[in-house]
Amino acid sequence: MERLTRRRFLGGAGAAAATAALGPPARRASAQAKPLKIGLVLPYSNVYAVLGESITEGMRLVFERESWTVAGRKVELLREDDEVSPQVGLRKTKKLIESDAVDFLVGPVSSGVLAAIRDTVHQARQILIVANAGNDEISRERCSKYIFRASFSNWQPNWPMGAWVAAHVGKEAHLIAPKYSAGFDMMKAFKETFVPAGGRVVGEDYTPFPVNEDFAPFLTKINQAAPRVVYAFFSGSQAVRFVRQYDEFGLRARSKLCGAGFLTETDVLPAEGKSALGIITGHFYSTLLDNPTNRQFVREFRETFKKTPDGFAVQGYDTAQTIVHALKATGGDTQNKDRLIEAVRRVEFDSPRGRFRFDPKTQNVIQPFIYIREVREVGGELANVVIDQVANVKDPGTGCTLPG
Ligand code: PHB
Repeated sequence: MERLTRRRFLGGAGAAAATAALGPPARRASAQAKPLKIGLVLPYSNVYAVLGESITEGMRLVFERESWTVAGRKVELLREDDEVSPQVGLRKTKKLIESDAVDFLVGPVSSGVLAAIRDTVHQARQILIVANAGNDEISRERCSKYIFRASFSNWQPNWPMGAWVAAHVGKEAHLIAPKYSAGFDMMKAFKETFVPAGGRVVGEDYTPFPVNEDFAPFLTKINQAAPRVVYAFFSGSQAVRFVRQYDEFGLRARSKLCGAGFLTETDVLPAEGKSALGIITGHFYSTLLDNPTNRQFVREFRETFKKTPDGFAVQGYDTAQTIVHALKATGGDTQNKDRLIEAVRRVEFDSPRGRFRFDPKTQNVIQPFIYIREVREVGGELANVVIDQVANVKDPGTGCTLPG
Protein backbone atom coordinates (compact mmCIF):
# COMPACT_ATOMS: atom_id res chain seq x y z
CA MET A 1 0.00 0.00 0.00
CA GLU A 2 2.74 2.41 1.02
CA ARG A 3 4.67 1.32 -2.04
CA LEU A 4 1.83 1.99 -4.40
CA THR A 5 1.25 5.37 -2.82
CA ARG A 6 4.90 6.26 -3.08
CA ARG A 7 5.00 5.28 -6.72
CA ARG A 8 1.88 7.24 -7.52
CA PHE A 9 3.29 10.17 -5.62
CA LEU A 10 6.60 10.04 -7.49
CA GLY A 11 4.69 10.05 -10.74
CA GLY A 12 4.02 13.72 -10.07
CA ALA A 13 6.73 15.23 -7.92
CA GLY A 14 9.36 12.74 -9.00
CA ALA A 15 8.88 13.68 -12.63
CA ALA A 16 9.64 17.29 -11.72
CA ALA A 17 12.60 16.38 -9.53
CA ALA A 18 14.00 14.04 -12.17
CA THR A 19 13.95 16.77 -14.82
CA ALA A 20 15.80 19.13 -12.52
CA ALA A 21 18.38 16.46 -11.75
CA LEU A 22 18.93 15.72 -15.44
CA GLY A 23 20.21 19.18 -15.92
CA PRO A 24 19.25 21.13 -18.99
CA PRO A 25 16.41 23.27 -17.61
CA ALA A 26 18.32 23.90 -14.37
CA ARG A 27 21.52 24.87 -16.20
CA ARG A 28 19.71 27.23 -18.52
CA ALA A 29 17.92 28.90 -15.64
CA SER A 30 19.32 31.63 -13.42
CA ALA A 31 20.90 30.92 -10.04
CA GLN A 32 17.61 31.77 -8.39
CA ALA A 33 15.74 29.04 -10.25
CA LYS A 34 16.69 26.38 -7.72
CA PRO A 35 13.92 23.86 -7.17
CA LEU A 36 11.21 25.02 -4.81
CA LYS A 37 11.32 22.63 -1.88
CA ILE A 38 8.12 22.03 0.05
CA GLY A 39 8.48 19.88 3.14
CA LEU A 40 5.39 17.93 4.15
CA VAL A 41 5.16 16.87 7.77
CA LEU A 42 1.95 14.85 7.70
CA PRO A 43 0.64 11.54 9.01
CA TYR A 44 0.89 8.71 6.50
CA SER A 45 0.27 6.09 9.19
CA ASN A 46 -1.97 5.63 12.24
CA VAL A 47 -5.33 7.22 13.05
CA TYR A 48 -5.03 10.18 10.61
CA ALA A 49 -3.18 8.42 7.74
CA VAL A 50 -5.98 9.01 5.24
CA LEU A 51 -6.06 12.72 6.10
CA GLY A 52 -2.36 13.08 5.27
CA GLU A 53 -2.92 11.31 1.97
CA SER A 54 -5.92 13.52 1.06
CA ILE A 55 -3.99 16.71 1.82
CA THR A 56 -1.09 15.53 -0.35
CA GLU A 57 -3.47 14.66 -3.21
CA GLY A 58 -5.12 18.09 -3.03
CA MET A 59 -1.68 19.69 -3.34
CA ARG A 60 -0.68 17.45 -6.22
CA LEU A 61 -3.77 18.47 -8.18
CA VAL A 62 -2.70 22.13 -8.04
CA PHE A 63 0.92 21.44 -8.99
CA GLU A 64 -0.17 19.15 -11.85
CA ARG A 65 -2.13 22.09 -13.24
CA GLU A 66 1.06 24.20 -12.99
CA SER A 67 3.08 21.40 -14.68
CA TRP A 68 5.19 21.23 -11.50
CA THR A 69 6.86 24.58 -12.24
CA VAL A 70 5.87 27.83 -10.49
CA ALA A 71 7.45 31.21 -11.29
CA GLY A 72 10.28 29.41 -13.07
CA ARG A 73 10.98 27.00 -10.20
CA LYS A 74 10.50 23.24 -10.32
CA VAL A 75 8.38 22.05 -7.43
CA GLU A 76 9.65 19.26 -5.18
CA LEU A 77 7.54 17.74 -2.43
CA LEU A 78 9.55 16.15 0.37
CA ARG A 79 7.25 13.94 2.34
CA GLU A 80 7.78 12.90 5.99
CA ASP A 81 5.43 10.72 8.07
CA ASP A 82 4.84 12.30 11.51
CA GLU A 83 2.91 9.19 12.65
CA VAL A 84 0.54 11.53 14.61
CA SER A 85 3.29 11.72 17.23
CA PRO A 86 4.54 15.06 18.64
CA GLN A 87 8.06 13.63 19.13
CA VAL A 88 8.30 12.15 15.64
CA GLY A 89 6.74 15.29 14.14
CA LEU A 90 9.34 17.48 15.84
CA ARG A 91 12.21 15.30 14.64
CA LYS A 92 10.93 15.28 11.05
CA THR A 93 10.32 19.04 11.16
CA LYS A 94 13.91 19.67 12.28
CA LYS A 95 15.17 17.45 9.46
CA LEU A 96 13.13 19.32 6.85
CA ILE A 97 14.28 22.70 8.15
CA GLU A 98 17.94 21.94 8.93
CA SER A 99 19.00 19.25 6.44
CA ASP A 100 16.65 19.87 3.52
CA ALA A 101 16.38 23.67 3.90
CA VAL A 102 12.82 23.66 2.59
CA ASP A 103 11.30 26.90 1.30
CA PHE A 104 7.87 26.11 2.74
CA LEU A 105 6.88 23.70 5.46
CA VAL A 106 3.35 22.22 5.20
CA GLY A 107 1.41 20.28 7.84
CA PRO A 108 0.68 18.84 10.34
CA VAL A 109 -2.73 17.20 10.93
CA SER A 110 -2.72 16.81 14.70
CA SER A 111 -2.98 19.75 17.10
CA GLY A 112 -0.56 17.86 19.36
CA VAL A 113 2.10 17.85 16.64
CA LEU A 114 1.58 21.52 15.80
CA ALA A 115 1.93 22.45 19.48
CA ALA A 116 5.23 20.51 19.58
CA ILE A 117 6.78 22.09 16.45
CA ARG A 118 5.57 25.69 16.86
CA ASP A 119 8.59 27.09 18.73
CA THR A 120 11.13 25.37 16.45
CA VAL A 121 9.37 26.75 13.37
CA HIS A 122 9.15 30.23 14.85
CA GLN A 123 12.77 30.36 16.00
CA ALA A 124 14.04 29.08 12.63
CA ARG A 125 11.96 31.79 10.85
CA GLN A 126 10.49 28.96 8.78
CA ILE A 127 7.30 29.72 6.88
CA LEU A 128 4.72 27.09 7.77
CA ILE A 129 1.34 26.71 6.07
CA VAL A 130 -0.80 24.63 8.42
CA ALA A 131 -2.86 22.27 6.29
CA ASN A 132 -5.05 20.82 9.06
CA ALA A 133 -4.12 21.02 12.78
CA GLY A 134 -6.64 23.39 14.33
CA ASN A 135 -5.34 24.21 17.83
CA ASP A 136 -6.88 27.57 18.67
CA GLU A 137 -3.73 28.76 20.47
CA ILE A 138 -1.94 29.14 17.09
CA SER A 139 -4.43 31.87 16.14
CA ARG A 140 -4.22 33.35 19.63
CA GLU A 141 -1.55 33.21 22.37
CA ARG A 142 0.93 31.09 20.40
CA CYS A 143 0.63 32.84 17.02
CA SER A 144 3.71 33.51 14.90
CA LYS A 145 4.28 35.74 11.91
CA TYR A 146 5.83 32.70 10.18
CA ILE A 147 2.70 30.55 10.61
CA PHE A 148 -0.38 30.69 8.38
CA ARG A 149 -3.33 28.32 8.60
CA ALA A 150 -5.17 27.34 5.41
CA SER A 151 -7.49 24.83 7.10
CA PHE A 152 -9.50 26.01 10.16
CA SER A 153 -9.09 26.76 13.82
CA ASN A 154 -10.83 24.15 15.98
CA TRP A 155 -13.20 26.87 17.13
CA GLN A 156 -14.51 27.65 13.63
CA PRO A 157 -16.68 24.63 12.67
CA ASN A 158 -17.98 24.13 16.22
CA TRP A 159 -18.89 27.60 17.43
CA PRO A 160 -21.87 28.03 15.05
CA MET A 161 -23.12 24.56 15.95
CA GLY A 162 -23.91 25.28 19.61
CA ALA A 163 -26.67 27.79 18.94
CA TRP A 164 -27.93 25.82 15.93
CA VAL A 165 -28.23 22.54 17.82
CA ALA A 166 -29.98 24.25 20.76
CA ALA A 167 -32.50 25.85 18.39
CA HIS A 168 -33.14 22.93 16.04
CA VAL A 169 -32.24 19.64 17.74
CA GLY A 170 -32.38 19.78 21.51
CA LYS A 171 -31.22 21.52 24.66
CA GLU A 172 -29.66 18.56 26.54
CA ALA A 173 -26.34 17.35 25.20
CA HIS A 174 -23.65 14.83 26.09
CA LEU A 175 -20.25 15.78 24.63
CA ILE A 176 -17.61 13.28 23.55
CA ALA A 177 -14.20 13.75 21.90
CA PRO A 178 -10.64 12.41 22.05
CA LYS A 179 -8.57 13.41 25.03
CA TYR A 180 -6.17 15.95 23.51
CA SER A 181 -6.22 19.63 22.62
CA ALA A 182 -8.33 19.33 19.46
CA GLY A 183 -11.06 17.53 21.40
CA PHE A 184 -10.97 20.09 24.22
CA ASP A 185 -10.96 23.10 21.84
CA MET A 186 -13.90 21.81 19.81
CA MET A 187 -16.15 21.00 22.77
CA LYS A 188 -15.34 24.36 24.37
CA ALA A 189 -16.32 26.22 21.16
CA PHE A 190 -19.62 24.31 20.98
CA LYS A 191 -20.45 25.20 24.59
CA GLU A 192 -19.72 28.89 23.92
CA THR A 193 -22.98 29.20 21.98
CA PHE A 194 -24.93 26.15 23.21
CA VAL A 195 -25.16 27.23 26.84
CA PRO A 196 -26.16 30.90 26.22
CA ALA A 197 -28.86 29.54 23.84
CA GLY A 198 -30.41 27.63 26.75
CA GLY A 199 -28.53 24.37 26.25
CA ARG A 200 -27.41 22.18 29.13
CA VAL A 201 -24.37 19.89 29.05
CA VAL A 202 -25.49 16.76 30.88
CA GLY A 203 -22.26 14.79 30.44
CA GLU A 204 -18.80 15.12 28.94
CA ASP A 205 -16.27 12.41 28.09
CA TYR A 206 -12.75 12.47 26.67
CA THR A 207 -11.58 9.19 25.17
CA PRO A 208 -8.07 7.70 24.74
CA PHE A 209 -6.00 9.16 21.89
CA PRO A 210 -4.41 8.35 19.47
CA VAL A 211 -5.34 4.68 19.96
CA ASN A 212 -8.84 3.61 20.98
CA GLU A 213 -10.55 0.54 19.59
CA ASP A 214 -13.51 0.39 21.88
CA PHE A 215 -16.07 3.08 22.75
CA ALA A 216 -18.33 0.64 24.66
CA PRO A 217 -17.72 2.02 28.18
CA PHE A 218 -18.64 5.52 27.00
CA LEU A 219 -21.60 4.38 24.92
CA THR A 220 -22.97 2.41 27.86
CA LYS A 221 -22.94 5.59 29.92
CA ILE A 222 -24.65 7.57 27.15
CA ASN A 223 -27.26 4.84 26.79
CA GLN A 224 -28.15 5.09 30.47
CA ALA A 225 -28.29 8.90 30.46
CA ALA A 226 -30.36 9.00 27.22
CA PRO A 227 -29.63 12.65 26.33
CA ARG A 228 -31.55 14.30 23.49
CA VAL A 229 -28.27 15.14 21.68
CA VAL A 230 -24.76 13.69 21.53
CA TYR A 231 -22.20 16.17 20.20
CA ALA A 232 -18.94 14.57 19.03
CA PHE A 233 -15.61 15.18 17.38
CA PHE A 234 -13.75 12.18 15.98
CA SER A 235 -11.79 11.92 12.76
CA GLY A 236 -10.08 9.33 10.57
CA SER A 237 -10.28 5.72 11.74
CA GLN A 238 -11.69 6.80 15.15
CA ALA A 239 -14.67 8.46 13.40
CA VAL A 240 -15.48 5.20 11.60
CA ARG A 241 -15.33 3.17 14.82
CA PHE A 242 -17.35 5.66 16.84
CA VAL A 243 -20.15 6.10 14.29
CA ARG A 244 -20.49 2.34 13.74
CA GLN A 245 -20.46 1.48 17.44
CA TYR A 246 -22.97 4.26 18.18
CA ASP A 247 -25.34 2.58 15.73
CA GLU A 248 -24.61 -0.93 17.04
CA PHE A 249 -25.53 0.25 20.54
CA GLY A 250 -28.93 1.32 19.18
CA LEU A 251 -28.42 4.94 20.18
CA ARG A 252 -29.34 6.52 16.85
CA ALA A 253 -33.08 6.44 17.39
CA ARG A 254 -32.98 8.10 20.81
CA SER A 255 -30.05 10.52 20.93
CA LYS A 256 -29.42 12.59 17.79
CA LEU A 257 -25.75 12.48 16.84
CA CYS A 258 -24.29 15.86 15.85
CA GLY A 259 -20.71 17.10 15.69
CA ALA A 260 -17.77 18.63 13.88
CA GLY A 261 -17.71 17.93 10.12
CA PHE A 262 -14.74 15.56 10.33
CA LEU A 263 -17.07 12.97 11.91
CA THR A 264 -18.77 12.30 8.56
CA GLU A 265 -16.35 13.70 5.96
CA THR A 266 -16.07 11.93 2.64
CA ASP A 267 -12.92 10.08 3.75
CA VAL A 268 -14.91 8.12 6.34
CA LEU A 269 -18.50 8.08 4.99
CA PRO A 270 -18.20 4.96 2.78
CA ALA A 271 -16.81 2.93 5.71
CA GLU A 272 -19.45 4.29 8.08
CA GLY A 273 -22.21 3.34 5.65
CA LYS A 274 -25.83 3.64 6.72
CA SER A 275 -24.76 4.10 10.37
CA ALA A 276 -23.99 7.70 9.38
CA LEU A 277 -27.46 8.52 7.99
CA GLY A 278 -28.98 11.54 9.71
CA ILE A 279 -25.84 12.77 11.48
CA ILE A 280 -25.68 16.59 11.53
CA THR A 281 -22.30 18.32 11.43
CA GLY A 282 -20.72 21.76 10.94
CA HIS A 283 -17.97 22.16 8.35
CA PHE A 284 -16.50 24.69 5.90
CA TYR A 285 -17.09 22.36 2.97
CA SER A 286 -19.36 19.83 1.34
CA THR A 287 -18.49 17.95 -1.84
CA LEU A 288 -21.94 18.99 -3.09
CA LEU A 289 -21.20 22.77 -3.04
CA ASP A 290 -22.49 24.20 -6.29
CA ASN A 291 -19.86 26.72 -7.38
CA PRO A 292 -17.70 26.56 -10.54
CA THR A 293 -14.40 26.10 -8.66
CA ASN A 294 -15.78 23.20 -6.65
CA ARG A 295 -17.41 21.55 -9.65
CA GLN A 296 -14.07 21.62 -11.51
CA PHE A 297 -12.16 20.49 -8.40
CA VAL A 298 -14.44 17.50 -7.79
CA ARG A 299 -14.33 16.52 -11.47
CA GLU A 300 -10.52 16.74 -11.78
CA PHE A 301 -9.96 15.03 -8.43
CA ARG A 302 -12.20 12.11 -9.41
CA GLU A 303 -10.46 11.81 -12.78
CA THR A 304 -6.99 11.85 -11.21
CA PHE A 305 -7.48 9.83 -8.03
CA LYS A 306 -10.59 7.77 -8.85
CA LYS A 307 -12.38 8.84 -5.68
CA THR A 308 -14.45 11.70 -4.32
CA PRO A 309 -12.48 14.49 -2.59
CA ASP A 310 -13.02 15.44 1.05
CA GLY A 311 -12.44 18.63 3.04
CA PHE A 312 -8.83 17.58 3.75
CA ALA A 313 -8.11 17.52 0.01
CA VAL A 314 -9.54 21.05 -0.15
CA GLN A 315 -7.13 22.07 2.60
CA GLY A 316 -4.24 20.64 0.54
CA TYR A 317 -5.54 22.38 -2.57
CA ASP A 318 -5.79 25.73 -0.75
CA THR A 319 -2.34 25.29 0.82
CA ALA A 320 -0.80 24.69 -2.61
CA GLN A 321 -2.76 27.60 -4.14
CA THR A 322 -1.45 29.84 -1.36
CA ILE A 323 2.12 28.84 -2.24
CA VAL A 324 1.52 29.27 -5.99
CA HIS A 325 -0.04 32.74 -5.63
CA ALA A 326 2.60 34.00 -3.19
CA LEU A 327 5.47 32.69 -5.30
CA LYS A 328 4.12 34.27 -8.46
CA ALA A 329 3.80 37.57 -6.57
CA THR A 330 7.49 37.51 -5.59
CA GLY A 331 8.60 36.35 -9.04
CA GLY A 332 9.81 33.07 -7.55
CA ASP A 333 11.94 34.64 -4.81
CA THR A 334 11.88 32.91 -1.42
CA GLN A 335 15.07 34.48 -0.02
CA ASN A 336 13.54 37.75 1.13
CA LYS A 337 11.39 36.36 3.93
CA ASP A 338 9.58 39.54 4.89
CA ARG A 339 8.55 40.04 1.28
CA LEU A 340 7.39 36.43 1.03
CA ILE A 341 5.38 36.67 4.26
CA GLU A 342 3.73 39.83 2.95
CA ALA A 343 2.90 38.03 -0.32
CA VAL A 344 1.31 35.12 1.59
CA ARG A 345 -0.70 37.55 3.72
CA ARG A 346 -2.19 39.11 0.57
CA VAL A 347 -3.14 35.85 -1.17
CA GLU A 348 -6.75 35.65 -2.34
CA PHE A 349 -8.34 33.18 -4.76
CA ASP A 350 -11.46 31.15 -5.46
CA SER A 351 -11.36 27.90 -3.51
CA PRO A 352 -13.83 25.02 -3.68
CA ARG A 353 -15.07 26.34 -0.29
CA GLY A 354 -15.61 29.93 -1.60
CA ARG A 355 -13.35 33.00 -1.68
CA PHE A 356 -10.14 32.17 0.20
CA ARG A 357 -8.28 34.78 2.26
CA PHE A 358 -6.36 34.99 5.51
CA ASP A 359 -7.50 37.15 8.39
CA PRO A 360 -4.61 39.66 8.74
CA LYS A 361 -5.07 39.60 12.54
CA THR A 362 -4.51 35.88 13.01
CA GLN A 363 -3.14 34.62 9.65
CA ASN A 364 -5.89 32.00 9.92
CA VAL A 365 -8.29 31.45 7.00
CA ILE A 366 -11.65 33.25 7.19
CA GLN A 367 -14.31 30.63 6.49
CA PRO A 368 -16.64 32.03 3.82
CA PHE A 369 -19.30 29.78 5.35
CA ILE A 370 -19.70 27.13 7.99
CA TYR A 371 -22.27 24.78 6.53
CA ILE A 372 -24.67 22.78 8.68
CA ARG A 373 -24.90 19.44 6.87
CA GLU A 374 -26.93 16.27 7.25
CA VAL A 375 -25.86 12.87 5.97
CA ARG A 376 -28.40 11.69 3.40
CA GLU A 377 -28.46 9.33 0.47
CA VAL A 378 -28.02 11.26 -2.79
CA GLY A 379 -28.14 9.31 -6.06
CA GLY A 380 -27.37 6.04 -4.28
CA GLU A 381 -24.37 7.46 -2.35
CA LEU A 382 -24.06 8.95 1.11
CA ALA A 383 -23.31 12.68 1.13
CA ASN A 384 -23.27 15.70 3.44
CA VAL A 385 -26.28 17.73 2.30
CA VAL A 386 -26.21 21.42 3.27
CA ILE A 387 -29.29 22.33 5.33
CA ASP A 388 -28.18 25.72 6.71
CA GLN A 389 -25.17 28.04 6.78
CA VAL A 390 -23.43 30.74 8.78
CA ALA A 391 -21.36 33.28 6.80
CA ASN A 392 -17.91 34.76 7.38
CA VAL A 393 -16.65 32.81 10.39
CA LYS A 394 -13.38 34.28 11.73
CA ASP A 395 -11.46 32.95 14.69
CA PRO A 396 -11.82 35.47 17.53
CA GLY A 397 -8.03 35.83 17.94
CA THR A 398 -7.23 39.51 18.28
CA GLY A 399 -3.72 39.69 16.89
CA CYS A 400 -0.25 38.42 17.40
CA THR A 401 1.63 40.42 20.01
CA LEU A 402 4.57 38.04 20.44
CA PRO A 403 7.95 39.37 19.37
CA GLY A 404 8.82 38.51 15.75
C1 PHB B 1 -6.45 18.32 15.10
O1 PHB B 1 -5.75 17.58 15.80
O2 PHB B 1 -6.35 19.57 15.15
C2 PHB B 1 -7.44 17.73 14.16
C3 PHB B 1 -7.27 16.43 13.71
C4 PHB B 1 -8.18 15.88 12.83
C5 PHB B 1 -9.25 16.63 12.39
C6 PHB B 1 -9.43 17.94 12.83
C7 PHB B 1 -8.52 18.49 13.73
O3 PHB B 1 -10.12 16.10 11.54
